[in-house]
Amino acid sequence: MTSDCTEDDVRKMDIGDPLAAVREKFHLPAGVVYLDGNSLGAAPKAAFEELNAAAKSEWADQLIRSWQGAGWWALPETLGDLLAGLAGAQQGEIVVCDTTSSNLYKALHAALSLRPKRPVILTEAEGFPTDTYIAEGVKSVRENIELRLGSLDDNNIDELLDDSIAAVLINHIDYRTGAVRNMKQITKRIHAAGAIAIWDLCHSAGVYPIDLNGANVDFAAGCTYKYLNGGPGSPAYIFAATRHHGELSQPLSGWWGHMEPFAFEPTYTAAKGIRRLLCGTQPILSMRALKAGLDIYADLDMVDVRQKSMSLTNLFINLIDQECQGHDVEVASPRDARARGSQVSLSHANGAPIIAALTARGVIGGFRAPNVMRFGFAPLYLSHHDVWRAVAHLKEVLVSEEWRQDRFNIPGHIS
Ligand SMILES: Cc1ncc(COP(=O)(O)O)c(C=O)c1O
Repeated sequence: MTSDCTEDDVRKMDIGDPLAAVREKFHLPAGVVYLDGNSLGAAPKAAFEELNAAAKSEWADQLIRSWQGAGWWALPETLGDLLAGLAGAQQGEIVVCDTTSSNLYKALHAALSLRPKRPVILTEAEGFPTDTYIAEGVKSVRENIELRLGSLDDNNIDELLDDSIAAVLINHIDYRTGAVRNMKQITKRIHAAGAIAIWDLCHSAGVYPIDLNGANVDFAAGCTYKYLNGGPGSPAYIFAATRHHGELSQPLSGWWGHMEPFAFEPTYTAAKGIRRLLCGTQPILSMRALKAGLDIYADLDMVDVRQKSMSLTNLFINLIDQECQGHDVEVASPRDARARGSQVSLSHANGAPIIAALTARGVIGGFRAPNVMRFGFAPLYLSHHDVWRAVAHLKEVLVSEEWRQDRFNIPGHIS
């Protein structure tokens, strides 16, 4: 690279990084620059120990005694309390369970029941599709519910709100562009309109400071396999503000959410508190891997995490501007770091084969149709020098046009 910002300059940015040592807590394959932690986070080394202990000693040796003896039964709350510290929630306001999709289903039903005279769910036309699909599912089983789709952001939310709206389901960070929404302001406006605010935290948890109680949020849900590094298919979580716990009802009334699960009563009585958002038996091995991911945050300050996240994404954008001019690459994320999460999206008509060519070089990013190349910057295990390497490879792929090779133009590639 010939440029204003040199490799030496970039190396200097890594000196004094307060998170540098955290990288050692992850297994990262040699030679890989991993920029897809916004889809599937890297593996914490401690996850292997957790899985080993949970499978070999607790399951194999202790068998069913581990439900109590090893704390398996309480894991949804134990892990929920770990997450609470990261999300500005109180202990007992989050349970780890199920999937984001099913937790949004519960939250939407709960919200509609709290606003029985209002028929409308407002959600994002351009949000992650499962949010809309789930809202459609909720509509299909309740009478007289209407779904309204809007382009929700900090500036236009007021125009979309009226007194027919029961619940607004909105993403904290947009999965395509990485744009951050102002949780406090938007929740305030939703409340001013008398509606319930439900936030999807999938792209912010673990990488962006979240203050659910400070923003007075009603419900939230998110996944743990992205920046929280819980592993493929690791369980999701749901937050319900304490003020709703008394009246909160949800339709997936399984035995784990019962007040007396081991009384095996013939009818359902919801547990008190957050456990009423549980449904059935949870994937304990996955939960234990997730515990390793969450434990890493015990020693971290989210201010440092956010600071490094902004520094990495700023560097990436600056290097793209510097090195990739003339190749039809556009920055599709906000250029102001304050308005951006920990990802940078670039648009290019040939984004899919470019991502495939980068992956073959060990620079792993993601692609979303029709033309978005997504790069996630996980501050826990990436350095500024990784960013340098990624842009150097991207430039080579663009200049050489190696992405034109047949092997990079195979339809159906998932990243
Ligand atoms: C914003 C958002 N919401 C929901 C989901 C899906 O969640 P799950 O598969 O846990 O239901 C994703 C997955 O990538 C997502 O990005």
